Amino acid sequence: MGLRGLSRREVLALGGAASLGLVVGACGGSGRTAVPIEATGPVVAETEQRRRRSGAPVRDVAIGAGLVAHDLGSLTAQTWAYNGAVPSGEIRVKAGEVLRARLTNNLPEPTTIHWHGIALRNDMDGVPDLTQPVVPPGGTYDYEFVVPDPGTYWFHPHSGLHLDRGLYAPLIVDDPAEPGGYDREYTLVLDDWTDGLGQAPEAAFDDLKAGRGAHAAHIAAAKAGGEAGPTSELLESAGGDVTYPLYLVNGRRPSAPPVFDARPGERLRLRIVNAGADTPFRVAVGGHQMTVTHTDGFPVEPVIVDALMVAMAERYDVVVTVSGSGAFPVVAVAEAKAAQAMAVIRSGPGDLPPSNAQPAELSRRVLQMADLRAAEGVRLDGKRPDRRHKVELGGGEDGYVWTINGRAMGDKPLEIRQGERVRLTFTNKTTMFHPMHLHGHTFQVVQESGGAGPRKDTTIVRPDQTVTIDFDADNPGQWMLHCHNLYHQMGGMMTTLSYVADRSGR
Ligand code: C2O
Ligand code: CU
Repeated sequence: MGLRGLSRREVLALGGAASLGLVVGACGGSGRTAVPIEATGPVVAETEQRRRRSGAPVRDVAIGAGLVAHDLGSLTAQTWAYNGAVPSGEIRVKAGEVLRARLTNNLPEPTTIHWHGIALRNDMDGVPDLTQPVVPPGGTYDYEFVVPDPGTYWFHPHSGLHLDRGLYAPLIVDDPAEPGGYDREYTLVLDDWTDGLGQAPEAAFDDLKAGRGAHAAHIAAAKAGGEAGPTSELLESAGGDVTYPLYLVNGRRPSAPPVFDARPGERLRLRIVNAGADTPFRVAVGGHQMTVTHTDGFPVEPVIVDALMVAMAERYDVVVTVSGSGAFPVVAVAEAKAAQAMAVIRSGPGDLPPSNAQPAELSRRVLQMADLRAAEGVRLDGKRPDRRHKVELGGGEDGYVWTINGRAMGDKPLEIRQGERVRLTFTNKTTMFHPMHLHGHTFQVVQESGGAGPRKDTTIVRPDQTVTIDFDADNPGQWMLHCHNLYHQMGGMMTTLSYVADRSGR
């Protein structure tokens, strides 16, 4: 049996660099022989050379992944984190600079870092066995790449269930040319927390596979045609599959919230990152509206809302004008999970808001995808798609196996060629929503009206919904396409978007 007959799980099991680039089939639709453009090959290196400005500054950072005792707020959890903190300190670079990061793995398991949302060179993307060998315990790995686009990004491991521990941090890319329009900024990283308190992530995953717990009850109830537990009207599904003891903003539980200082009348830019594994958050600021300015790093035509939904791995940047003197809750409700995380904007004296504060804004005008339009400078031109792929999301029942186009673990890559305008059409045959993420590219959502939606790298697909996205194939290599519910991803909802070329290299 050739490698083409192996499932991705089997290829992954082969492990190590030996399987790099071999996960992709070798036959193009036209009958010509097409080969995958490998992460470690010359095409990827040449693309990076063209991207790199001569004299571009290089930012060096050291990232140690290791075990820590993390203080959630008068409560300590043993967990895994980068540089001893949850989240670890944010990395800031300017667009066009080179980030050089040395990962040292002090964890008991192999790991990697994925730079979520960055259109970087494929061999620095951090996917074990697809773009790099894993970094063993005690090992180091040097990442080095141009950071092309400004915006709010983040990084996390791409191994096992590591992301559901404390391994995550923001990566903020400043735009030297940006006009600003705000006085100060704060980053809010949201998370669902169980490690060291409740079940370990691996035990939670075992329960899901064995049909124990809330997800199984939900499926059984839906089959019986009954009420299927708490659901979200906005997501038309449950909020998630895992029960978490706590929800956090910047590593803190709501009874010990992070406090952001401000002055009355100041405009605050809040960069909101959902680092949760299984939880979408509905975010609102008590007594304030928010002007949405960016999603997944890219600017949108500003929209004023009372609340917004941030699915796993999505980012939203909003501007809030501090309405007066006081202590205002920034609440992140774990959607359909009856719990929340909180931060506080403090512009004057007064008690902290209670940790269960529920501002009325949460149920007023919530941002909808149809409200969003890419800002003019980042909108794709009106080119017609050269290549279309259907992406059908399925599974989630027996054995907790989740599929893309009927297959788990992505053993049938979606082939594309450099220079194409590519259209992916997602359909969702499951009872859960899925935040679908494409590595290495920022696509444009096609509005249901047909108009140009926002540029994003992660977008929600609700049950029975069809979502269409377009992007330019301008970053060759092997790129993952997966659900950013970590448990769905590990259950199989992942595949590869594979650039192929004729043997000649074209
Ligand atoms: Cu944050 Cu493969 O993704
Ligand atoms: Cu999913």
